[in-house]
Amino acid sequence: MVTLLENPLRVGLQQERTSEPLIMVIFGASGDLTQRKLVPALYQLKRERRLPPEMTIVGVARRDWSHDYFREQMREGIEQFSDGLQSEELWQDFAEGLFYCSGDMDKPASYQKLKAFLGELDGMRGTRGNRVFYLAVSPNFFPEAIRQLGDAGMLADPVKTRLVIEKPFGRDLSSAQKLNRVVQNVCKEEQVYRIDHYLGKETVQNLLVFRFANAIFEPLWNRQFVDHVQITVAETVGVEDRAGYYESSGALRDMVQNHLMQLFCLTAMEPPNSLDADSIRTEKVKVIEATHLADINNLENSAVRGQYSKGWMKGQPVPGYREEPGVNPNSTTPTYVAMKLLIDNWRWQGVPFYLRTGKRLPKKVSEIAIQFRDVPLMIFQSAAQQTNPNVLTLRIQPNEGISLRFEAKMPGPELRTRTVDMDFGYGSSFGMATADAYNRLLLDCMLGDQTLFTRADEVEEAWRVVTPALTVWEAPTDPALIPQYEAGTWEPKEAEHLIERDGRHWRRP
Ligand code: BG6
Repeated sequence: MVTLLENPLRVGLQQERTSEPLIMVIFGASGDLTQRKLVPALYQLKRERRLPPEMTIVGVARRDWSHDYFREQMREGIEQFSDGLQSEELWQDFAEGLFYCSGDMDKPASYQKLKAFLGELDGMRGTRGNRVFYLAVSPNFFPEAIRQLGDAGMLADPVKTRLVIEKPFGRDLSSAQKLNRVVQNVCKEEQVYRIDHYLGKETVQNLLVFRFANAIFEPLWNRQFVDHVQITVAETVGVEDRAGYYESSGALRDMVQNHLMQLFCLTAMEPPNSLDADSIRTEKVKVIEATHLADINNLENSAVRGQYSKGWMKGQPVPGYREEPGVNPNSTTPTYVAMKLLIDNWRWQGVPFYLRTGKRLPKKVSEIAIQFRDVPLMIFQSAAQQTNPNVLTLRIQPNEGISLRFEAKMPGPELRTRTVDMDFGYGSSFGMATADAYNRLLLDCMLGDQTLFTRADEVEEAWRVVTPALTVWEAPTDPALIPQYEAGTWEPKEAEHLIERDGRHWRRP
């Protein structure tokens, strides 16, 4: 058996991992993401002794904060959004590496000031000029910040400096291409880490292990055995307090182009030659290149949008999307999208991949369900109450695990069958909770491992796939024509038709 782990050069998803001394510069330091996710994740890495002692974090934002005030804010974030400080000593050690530098993202002087400050910190903290610049700001600021970092010479060293860009990467294909050009003007692709937090989830990475470390599934993973695939990312939350962002984004941009497309790629891609970043990313690009909406000329046959109307969640009344604070009462922004994709390649020709995501659905659940073909001849016809095709379900969250549904004989003298599940649960098998996706992604970018980040061509291809829907849905539409679904129910009836037209049904996970 060949094992690629024997060759250190070809190992992307390594095991024992601590990073070089470095400074992580977080733009958007006063924002939610920094306080809720990024700094708590870095603190967790510190607890796990995965950070070098020299690790330094510099928050950058417009507000005039002191280092101490920034530290207090971050402390609150860790206390509120993670397992807490654990020990005062650990916190003190971590806090010594936290600094703040105020600045305007559009003013060259701010970058010069930051550059000088980082130079000082190199001397103080021994960070040797290694930097990760993390753009946790509103996407409107991405191009300007990247240009200015380039002009200030802060991304000039391709070995010592990296750039992390949060989603969404562009608003459509042309803006993503434009943003890629801005990035490519100032740095090399190997310095760029486009984040999609779904790739940091353990269960998403397990898709690779499940598919490529087990011999029995791969022979079934194709058009000969698979009838169709359903990928669901359902949320119970509504738009929350993010109307400002969400109104101009909607479910297609917010979830489908990135998170669902990533789940799709990992499910459908060919086996990579190795675990290194480019082998995996090249296979992902190849499968998206072969992918298209099922019927490009009649969008309603391949994509459906919807918006939640008022309803009930957990016994409480909740407003409809158009009644949410900050949302235009005539908004046409979709909070639900379902689509049917086809892949033109030997493995998947003719096998539909149905993707759906929505807010205010009855359950928070993300899963990939591979439904296999029916048996060619059912000899148990009279014995079966109702037989169901085999389904392999990869549960991304919650209740992370994998289950296989099959038919079994019910005990007793009569020959009667029933559908049962064979189940693997992460919690029960490993006895530990899965880590937050950001822990993994931050560590990877500090280590220079790009496997779980999206490459320029990949992000553009993902936009290409959704462009026909985006184009039609961006055109002015009568708000009365946007399909509605009641909050707390599964989908608009138009989405049911999308799949039922093919003689199939949405799962009820
Ligand atoms: C984010 C979206 O990227 O993912 C949110 O902007 C969404 O709208 C969130 O709620 C879902 O992530 P998770 O990890 O909770 O499934």
